[in-house]
Amino acid sequence: MTGATGYDATHAAWRRDPQAFWAEAAGGIAWDKPPERTFDPALGVYGRWFPGGWLNTCHNAVDRHVAAGHGARPAIIWDSPMTGQVETITYADLLDRVARLAGALAERGVTKGERVIIYMPMVPEAAIAMLACARLGAVHSVVFGGFAAAELATRIADAKPRAIVTASCGLEPGRIVKYKPLIDAAIGLSPHKPTAVLILQRPECLCELTPGRDADLLDAMAAATPHPCVSVEATDPLYILYTSGTTGAPKGILRDNGGHAVALRHSMAMVYGVGAGDVFWAASDVGWVVGHSYIVYAPLLAGCTTVLFEGKPVGTPDAGTFWRVCEQHGVKVLFTAPTAIRAIKKEDPDGTLLKRYDLSKLDALFLAGERCDPDTITWSEGLLHKPVVDHWWQTETGWTITGNFRGLGLFPTRPGSGGKPAPGYDVVVLDEAHQEVPQGQIGSLAIRLPLPPSALPTLFNADDRFREAYLSAFPGFYSTADAGMIDAEGYVWVMSRTDDIINVAGHRLSTGAMEEVLAAHPDVAECAVVGVRDTLKGQVPLGLVVLKHGVTKTEAEIGRELIAMVRDRIGPVAAFKEARVVARLPKTRSGKILRATLRKIADGDDYVVPPTIDDPMILDEVGEVLKGAMR
Ligand code: COA
Ligand code: AMP
Repeated sequence: MTGATGYDATHAAWRRDPQAFWAEAAGGIAWDKPPERTFDPALGVYGRWFPGGWLNTCHNAVDRHVAAGHGARPAIIWDSPMTGQVETITYADLLDRVARLAGALAERGVTKGERVIIYMPMVPEAAIAMLACARLGAVHSVVFGGFAAAELATRIADAKPRAIVTASCGLEPGRIVKYKPLIDAAIGLSPHKPTAVLILQRPECLCELTPGRDADLLDAMAAATPHPCVSVEATDPLYILYTSGTTGAPKGILRDNGGHAVALRHSMAMVYGVGAGDVFWAASDVGWVVGHSYIVYAPLLAGCTTVLFEGKPVGTPDAGTFWRVCEQHGVKVLFTAPTAIRAIKKEDPDGTLLKRYDLSKLDALFLAGERCDPDTITWSEGLLHKPVVDHWWQTETGWTITGNFRGLGLFPTRPGSGGKPAPGYDVVVLDEAHQEVPQGQIGSLAIRLPLPPSALPTLFNADDRFREAYLSAFPGFYSTADAGMIDAEGYVWVMSRTDDIINVAGHRLSTGAMEEVLAAHPDVAECAVVGVRDTLKGQVPLGLVVLKHGVTKTEAEIGRELIAMVRDRIGPVAAFKEARVVARLPKTRSGKILRATLRKIADGDDYVVPPTIDDPMILDEVGEVLKGAMR
C-alpha cells in the first residue's frame, strides 16, 4: 500500500499513516456514498471506521461481479461427500437465489436492523441466507449446528430474531442430526419467540412444519419477489457471532458493514495472495468466524470461487478427501485447522492417499484456530512441498492478527510461531504492571487501540461488557486473553489462553460454561473443568468432581450422567467425554479453586505451588489424575 512492497515496507507504511493505508484499501469497495472520514476516534467505544460511508455488503459480494460481466463465474462450489453431491453456483445464480431469499424474509417482516438466526448445516443455503440478510441490511447470527437447544435458546433470547432460517437436518458421519426438535425446544426455552421459521427440507430427513410459523425455504424463495440491496451505513451491524465468554453467557461479537468489507477484501490479496477467479477453500464451518470470513464474505468480496464442503477431513470417505477436493476444483489456497491436518496425518502418515492427487494448482496451506504444533507444519510442508502458514486469529478480529503474507512475498516461517503482525495490528506483550516486556519474554498479548477495520467495535447491546472483558485489563489496549511472546525478529508466539477458554479440535469452548452444567448435577458438591492435552484435538475437556457426602453411585455412573448433561445442554461439539471423581480440589486458604495451576499442570507447563494454597498434597493427588488423562 501507499507504494510499499514487501512485508517490512508495508507494515512500516501502515505504521506511518494508518488512515492513509485503510483509505486506500477502502478504494476496493463499491460505496453508495464514500466515507466522510476514514476513522473517527470520537465515535463508539474506541472509535469507528468509515463513518458517513454507505454501502451494501451483499452488493459488493455478489451483484457487483454480475454487473461487471462475471455472472457465469462459479461463486460457490458445494462439495458434499456426506450426500455424494457437488453443485456449482455461478455469481448470476447466486444473485437470483439471494435476492429471492431476501424477498422471502422481507415478506416475513425482516427489515434493516432486524436480527435473523441461521442454524444450518454446510449447505449453500447457509451462505445464501447470510447474504440475503446482508442484502436487507438485517443482522444475521449464525449458530453452529453442533450446539444443543439450550445454547441456541440463549442466542435467540439475546439476539431477539424476527426469523430463523434452518434445515430439517444436519449430517454427521453415521447419524442424522434432526434440527426441527432442537429448533422447537430452543424456541420453547427462549422468552423471545421469532414469528417465522424457514426450513430447508433435506431429503435425508423431512420434518413436519409448524402451521402459522414455519415455511418450506425453497417454496418461500420460489414464491418471493427478488429484493434489491438496501444501503446501510458503514458502521451499521452486519452480523452477531456468539462466542464463548468466561461465564456461561456467550458474548455477541458485533461486526459492522464497512470496516468488515474493506479489511476482508483487502486480506484476500495481502494475506492469501488470491484474486478474482481463483478458487479458495476454507475447510471450516459457517458457524465459526473462519466460515463467516473465508467461506462466505472475503472470497466473494474478492470475486473468487469459494468451496463449501460438507464433510470431515477423515472418514468421508477417507483421509484423501481434502486432496481430492483440491484437485477436483483446482483449489489455489486451502485454509483449515491444525486438528484437521493431525487427523489426516494420523490416518495417512506417509501421504499415500495425498500422492494420488494432482495438487499442482495448490499454492499454499494456511492453518489457524488453535496453537499449531511444529510437527503438523513440518509434516504437511514435507508432503505438499508448498508453503504452510500458521496464522493467529480470533472471532473478535474477523481476520488474522499475525501471519505470513503471500501478497507481500513470504518471509521464512518459524514452526510454532503464528508469524508477524498483519499491517493494521500493533501487537505488544505486556506484564501485569501494563509495561511492555523485553523481547523473548512471555506476557499478555495485547493490541494497541484502535483495532483495525473488521475487528469488533463492541459487543451486541453490551458496551460495558465489551469494555470490561477486553479494554479494562490494559488501558489503551485490547486484551487478546492469549499469552505469548515476540522474538527478536518480530515473530509472535502464542502459547496459551489466560482465561478459561479451551480449544477443542479448533472449536472455542468455555470450561466455565461446562462447570455450570456439572455443578447442576444433584450429586456434585463442587467441580472444575480443565483442558488436557490431546494429540488429535489439541485439548479435550476433563471434569473433576467432588461428590456430595453420602453419594453411593460409582465414578462410571456419575461420569455417564455428566457426559449426557453436557451433551444435552451445550452440545456434542463440547466433546466432553471424561469426568473423574476426586476427593478434594486444590484451593487457596480463602476457598478459591486453583484453576490456573490446574491448567498449567494439564498443559504440562512448569508451575509454582501458590503460597496461598491450603493443602499442597491435594495438588499432587489431582495432578496425578490430570497427567493420567493426557493423550
Ligand atoms: N452438528 C452436529 N454435531 C456436530 C457438528 C455439527 N455441525 N459438528 C460436530 N458435531 C459432533 C460430532 O458428530 C461429534 O459427535 P460425537 O461425540 O457423537 O462423535 C462431536 O460433535 C465432536 O465433533 P468433532 O470435534 O468434529 O470431532 P470428531 O471426532 O467428529 O472429528 C476431527 C475430529 C478432527 C476430524 C474434526 O474435529 C475436525 O474436522 N476438525 C476441524 C475443525 C475445524 O474446522 N474448526 C474450525 C476452526 S478453523
Ligand atoms: P476463535 O475465536 O474460535 O477463532 O479462537 C481464538 C483463539 O484460538 C485465540 O485466542 C487463540 O487462543 C487460539 N488460536 C487461534 N489461532 C491460533 C494460532 N494460529 N496459534 C495459536 N493460537 C491460536
